[in-house]
Amino acid sequence: MIYLDNAATTIHKPEEVKAAVMAAFDTLGNAGRGASAPSLDASRVIYETREKLARLFHTGDPRRIVFTANSTESLNIALKGLFSEGEHVITTVLEHNSVLRPLYECRERGVELTILGCDGKGNISYAEMESAVRGNTKAVVCTHASNLTGNMTGLERVGAIAKKHGLLLVVDASQTAGVCPIDVERMQIDVLCFTGHKSLLGPQGTGGMYVREGVRIRPLLSGGSGIDTYNEAHPEEMPTALEAGTLNGHGIAGLGAALSWIEKTGMDRIRQRELSLMRRFYEGVSCIPGVMVYGDFETDERTPIVSLNILDYDSSEVSDELSMVYGIITRPGAHCAPLMHRSLGTVEQGAVRFSFSYYNTEEEVDLAINAVRVLAYG
Ligand code: ALA
Repeated sequence: MIYLDNAATTIHKPEEVKAAVMAAFDTLGNAGRGASAPSLDASRVIYETREKLARLFHTGDPRRIVFTANSTESLNIALKGLFSEGEHVITTVLEHNSVLRPLYECRERGVELTILGCDGKGNISYAEMESAVRGNTKAVVCTHASNLTGNMTGLERVGAIAKKHGLLLVVDASQTAGVCPIDVERMQIDVLCFTGHKSLLGPQGTGGMYVREGVRIRPLLSGGSGIDTYNEAHPEEMPTALEAGTLNGHGIAGLGAALSWIEKTGMDRIRQRELSLMRRFYEGVSCIPGVMVYGDFETDERTPIVSLNILDYDSSEVSDELSMVYGIITRPGAHCAPLMHRSLGTVEQGAVRFSFSYYNTEEEVDLAINAVRVLAYG
């Protein structure tokens, strides 16, 4: 199998991740529930993973890192917990349904929404973003990178606009956390939502959010916290305020090992390798007659994704053929990104998304180029 669906989830994880999860099964108790050795062991593993995430995102305080099951949960907590009737929120057509659907629900409850469009290459306009700010605007909510085109959003520019107008900046880092530099201070990010199972190379069911000090989010859940048991209200201190119930200690142990591997290997090295595989594939397929590639490839400010169509072939049929004949795994269809597909005019056809990881090889890329060439030549 040639796995080129890393934007959906990474399959190849460092060996250390598997070992950490297996070890956790034998040792971890329930974090924060008593002072037994297994419980303390779980608390230690979870705290160390918080510290590594705080380092990765350049925040000095690990207590501002909250664990959730994935980006979707983080985004639901953030968006439903931040906005109220009468407030205005700016977002973009680049967003995944994990941003759009919670925002549509907010809109049902009286939150006003502006959705910024994009140009033919899938880029948003920062001038348009600034012009959309109104007196009641509360926040800009945007992805760090489109999961369809791989185009990245200039978060420093968005952060500057947000701060100039006193807005919150909420970022979906599903496609970038672990492989693209994210500095919540420099980028002036107030809430950063991430998943653990993509470029962070951790297990599925791990994820979280960074919440800037002073930003209050109404919790989606309340319940067991291990502290302040006789209080009728869920504790307000972070991170417990946004973490009710037993955490995924086994998964978080794996995520911690993945973060150590990323630190040891070097995020820049990982990123350069992925970009080089993506470039090789792009150069190989973009010149094939009948192949239409989406996104902006004039810059390296992008994630290692190449989405394309071949002639007018249905993207699911192409993806099936790639899988059945060549063993190449891609993701076709709509990618949970309805507005991005609408903007690119690919609602009917969808697109075939190839997404690369550090563990892919040049040989795999060349086999994929060849497969696209054969399909395009019929
Ligand atoms: N959000 C994931 C993707 O883009 C699942 O494929």
